[in-house]
Amino acid sequence: MLEKLGWKKSDNKNVSLENRMADVRKESVPNHIAIIMDGNGRWAKKRALPRAAGHREGMKNIRTITRCANKIGVGALTLYAFSTENWKRPALEVDLLMRLPEEFLNSFLPELMELNIKVQMIGEMDGLPDHTQRAVQNAINQTAVNTGMVLNFALNYGGRRELLLSVKEIAHQVQNGTLNLDDITEETISSRMMTATLPDPDLLIRTSGELRLSNFLLWQLAYSEFWFTDVHWPEFKEDDLLQAIESYQSRNRRYGGLKGE
Ligand code: FPP
Repeated sequence: MLEKLGWKKSDNKNVSLENRMADVRKESVPNHIAIIMDGNGRWAKKRALPRAAGHREGMKNIRTITRCANKIGVGALTLYAFSTENWKRPALEVDLLMRLPEEFLNSFLPELMELNIKVQMIGEMDGLPDHTQRAVQNAINQTAVNTGMVLNFALNYGGRRELLLSVKEIAHQVQNGTLNLDDITEETISSRMMTATLPDPDLLIRTSGELRLSNFLLWQLAYSEFWFTDVHWPEFKEDDLLQAIESYQSRNRRYGGLKGE
């Protein structure tokens, strides 16, 4: 019946997505969302494709989710793209993963500029191959003037390594007398983290069914809401992001206080 009136399933999907985005925007939108983009390999395997195809599809999906998060009004999106543990993967896979930021930024940078999105990175830049460093640094430089959403890539990033570096820096300052032991607060530590310019994530999303943090943002996720889904990253679309945000909005964040506070 509805089809006879010119209604198409796809129209409904778009209309309902737009409506849901509008509704989500009326409530408190998570200011910072962090995502563990897992399941590229399983997505590819399910389709009898090489793992590389999964990573490439995962890379393309970054564009979809970035655009959607930006439209909703998210302030920062941090994406776990390569961990300090990922170096253990076969050389060919590491090589491909190190080319994806270039490939992504080469095609998406003009759009990031149009959307006023600012690219940042956490992780150890100098451990990345030169070509990856050049691509990421170029995107950081070009988008530095932008004032909209921050798109923050975690590359060669590990939470324990970040904590270790921060502890060393603080210890060094205490040792050389530029910081007093008694003046060390939680803020001192936060300000030595690679995320120093960003608020802690309000919402952490992990795709593909694993229920762990995998060394991601160990300090910063202390009070974040978690959302896990079985959906593999390349298939995680606008609808899934909205579901995660809708769930976040229905929760009561208490920060250790009492209900209703
Ligand atoms: C985990 O899936 C995914 C990664 C280790 C890489 C994530 C990288 C991207 C999505 C693309 C990066 C692109 C840019 C622009 C930085 P997995 O391979 O562990 O999947 P599996 O657990 O199913 O094998």
